[in-house]
Amino acid sequence: MTDQTALSFASMTAAGDGVAVVFAEEGPKLAFQAQDLDKKTGGLLSKAAKITGFKGKKGSSVDVLAPQGVKFSRIVLVGMGKPASFSHEDWLNLGGSVRGVLTGREGASAHVYLETAKDAVAPADIASFALGAQLRGYSFKKYKSKKPQKDGNDGDKTLNKLVVHCADPRAAGKAFIPDQAILDGVNLARDLVNEPANVLGPAEFAAKAKQLTKSGVQVEVLNEAALKRLRMNALLAVGQGSDRPSHVVVMQWKGASPKGGAPVAIVGKGVTFDTGGISLKPAGGMEEMKGDMAGAACVVGLMQALAERKAKVNAVGVIGLVENMPSGKAQRPGDVVTAKSGTTIEVLNTDAEGRMVLADCLWYAQDRFKPKAVVNLATLTGAVMVALGKEHAGLFSNNDELADWLIAAGKETGEKLWRLPLGPKYDKMIESKVADIKNTGGKWGGSISAAQFLQRFIKEGTPWAHLDVAGTAMAAVDSDVNRSWGSGFGVRLLDRLIKDHYER
Ligand code: BES
Ligand code: MN
Ligand code: ZN
Repeated sequence: MTDQTALSFASMTAAGDGVAVVFAEEGPKLAFQAQDLDKKTGGLLSKAAKITGFKGKKGSSVDVLAPQGVKFSRIVLVGMGKPASFSHEDWLNLGGSVRGVLTGREGASAHVYLETAKDAVAPADIASFALGAQLRGYSFKKYKSKKPQKDGNDGDKTLNKLVVHCADPRAAGKAFIPDQAILDGVNLARDLVNEPANVLGPAEFAAKAKQLTKSGVQVEVLNEAALKRLRMNALLAVGQGSDRPSHVVVMQWKGASPKGGAPVAIVGKGVTFDTGGISLKPAGGMEEMKGDMAGAACVVGLMQALAERKAKVNAVGVIGLVENMPSGKAQRPGDVVTAKSGTTIEVLNTDAEGRMVLADCLWYAQDRFKPKAVVNLATLTGAVMVALGKEHAGLFSNNDELADWLIAAGKETGEKLWRLPLGPKYDKMIESKVADIKNTGGKWGGSISAAQFLQRFIKEGTPWAHLDVAGTAMAAVDSDVNRSWGSGFGVRLLDRLIKDHYER
């Protein structure tokens, strides 16, 4: 895990040092603390705003060195735009962008005076701001042998302390408690995705998941012997080329009251490295395939977040952990395997492995837990990036209500989804001449035929959604709240889905 900047909440009048962050709305209309500092510095802030053309627009800021007689070293005036109409995502992004302004030129501590030009900010919004700032503060430094200097005066400057000053610090601190759980879950997922595949294979990943026991999650690790007994042959076929044995991990969080009741099942693709197998991928960019377990990482991060915030829900996470390697033991194109459900699969391309892993995990999850809904996440196809780029994950569902809930959760959290179609005509694309289905669907609509394949393993009547996160969970584009290669995509989204629709 990375060092998190120590976060605290304090009153507007509590003492501060280091960097001060104050706000202005569009105009610029300076907030109270900004006006106060402006007065104390003889109009330095308004002068700097004027000279630089700062109008208080969202995403803009001015940075001044504090003059003699002021307790701060720097003062940053940050534009909010029009906070009256801010959503949860806007507060998150504001926190992220403020943390971004501090990054690189950080002092050891920063004091943020969070208020609008008119009003105090609601505790829930302060918590969102703080979550955004902390999410942005993550970076994966595990393999940097030079450790950062903690004094903030030289070398790699690191922000040790972030104090958010607000009208009601106690209420803000309370509102942030679940957000701390979400932050920890997202960062756990990011850590897993960023870890190289020599360090994190199926067994090592399973061991990380096992650690959730400490948070009150029941964790079972199924080894290859168990998977054979369970006839999870599609999953095993993918892993058989690797010297590192496959695993499936089952995680149960029982937080609903009463304890019984059908769970929500979350299923993740955990290919710890995807070479393509015998249908070998080209060398260029293959290193990125260390992130092909991002779906599984999200499931682990989510389960951790649910447990840490004691979510009133029964949730089960199932992840399929395999390494897809070419070798004398690897599966071949043309092989036929019988999945756990009994469906036979003709393997036309060993690089279309994720769907085979998920086929058995999806069936297992439904068979054992009779869930009231199933959501799976997978870095399943390159084609989803052709369709949607990197701003939306692909959403496929057999249930309009579940799809709408997910889309709404995506808008709230900024982890956006775009729905793509399913249908009988697309299902025809995976008909096989020799088996029930084949694992590729031809040239066009590759993300859709992959989703049709998964749907063959969903029981009639089970609400199900598949999220193709190939473009959003790994090699992520920069955003206000994320600068990490592994973004942790899906943890906040599914936490929100559960909070809004499955908790009681
Ligand atoms: N893990 C890949 C998909 C992927 C590609 C994720 C790029 C992230 C970035 C998946 O296993 C795969 O190889 N899919 C193939 C399917 C094809 C062989 C039908 C693909 O997308 O090319
Ligand atoms: Mn592949
Ligand atoms: Zn893959």
